[in-house]
Amino acid sequence: MEAIDFLRAKKVMNNETYRRDRSYRWNYRNGPGFKGPFPRITDVSQKEFFGSKVNSRLGVAAGILLNSRWVECYSRLGFDILTYKTVRSSERPCYPLPNWVFVEPINDLEPGSDEILRKARRRARDPAEVTSAVCFGMPSQPPEVWRKDVRRARGKLRRGQLLVVSVVGTPAEGGGEASLVEDFCRCARWADAAGADIIEANFSCPNVCTAEGSIYQDPGASGRLALALRDALPSTPLFIKSGHFNDRRKLSRFYQSVAGSADAVVLVNGVSRRVLGEDGRPVFGAFERVGILGRAIQPAAVSNVSAAVEYCAGKSLEVKTIAVGGVTGIEDPGLFFEAGASGVVMGGVPMLDPLLADRMKRKHPDW
Ligand SMILES: Cc1cc2nc3c(=O)[nH]c(=O)nc-3n(C[C@H](O)[C@H](O)[C@H](O)COP(=O)(O)O)c2cc1C
Repeated sequence: MEAIDFLRAKKVMNNETYRRDRSYRWNYRNGPGFKGPFPRITDVSQKEFFGSKVNSRLGVAAGILLNSRWVECYSRLGFDILTYKTVRSSERPCYPLPNWVFVEPINDLEPGSDEILRKARRRARDPAEVTSAVCFGMPSQPPEVWRKDVRRARGKLRRGQLLVVSVVGTPAEGGGEASLVEDFCRCARWADAAGADIIEANFSCPNVCTAEGSIYQDPGASGRLALALRDALPSTPLFIKSGHFNDRRKLSRFYQSVAGSADAVVLVNGVSRRVLGEDGRPVFGAFERVGILGRAIQPAAVSNVSAAVEYCAGKSLEVKTIAVGGVTGIEDPGLFFEAGASGVVMGGVPMLDPLLADRMKRKHPDW
């Protein structure tokens, strides 16, 4: 019995398309590890999405689409909004391994509290039950590499699919806010010129300690940066990726500050928590607080998305919300669509369950 369980578990693990025991660089060069077969994509009616037509409003969040090979693979798997992992204006190495661990099953994260999570010895077999923690540090290829590769990625998409490119600015030492704004705009223009359909500016990263990791917490800086990005991208839809808010007033202030500049906010990034190993030490070494994703963050994400949509409707703000956070099962996007999200993207689960979008679309062709 145990041997059969072991073999089954091994088969599940072998389905993972990102090798967590290997470096980001290895995965960039060799991934994705999808072993096929690709599904026969069913025809569904097209939907309106920020001025374009899409097969569905389901996609992959900034995360595992490391380059055009990854984008092509997930487009063939039936994800329709494909987000190219965050890029910078200069090369940046990834943090050392581990970059991605599973954590022990916990109840839903309590917004506002500060639970400590434990690394799991083994993964829950059902992808819908998985909660994990990531710590990459927003690595980037040099711009001359990613700019060519974004163009290649755009060329791989099928009808009714869109490429979102996630960009982040890098603060220059002593350069202050002005240099960060300038660098954000430079990256956004490059991604736009390379053929991105939508630009996503990342205003949050739970494991980056410099200014670019927590812009969303400062409504003044978020507003100024969003305005500069809008000017830099006169005709391309602009999304802004935000972290999770414990406090509804902070969420409202953030939305107020970016409304009029951003077309949508992508809500939420991984929720920041400490993760310890069996030895009681931080799993990611110097990075005690990292982004938690997957099952345990779903209620926090749904609650933020509902609050945001409600606030914007009440104030007649022209900014939409794209939901992300804790979608792990076939029915989960429904919670976000019911809350008023304009689209639903997934961070971790496409690595564990690459056929999920196809199953979702078969069951819910209206998504
Ligand atoms: C491997 C991995 C890398 C990620 N890297 C980024 C990133 O570069 N930029 C970003 O905005 N979010 C990044 N994220 C966060 C996701 O976009 C998403 O916000 C988060 O995973 C929560 O969604 P989930 O619960 O569906 O996984 C990453 C997530 C994963 C799994």
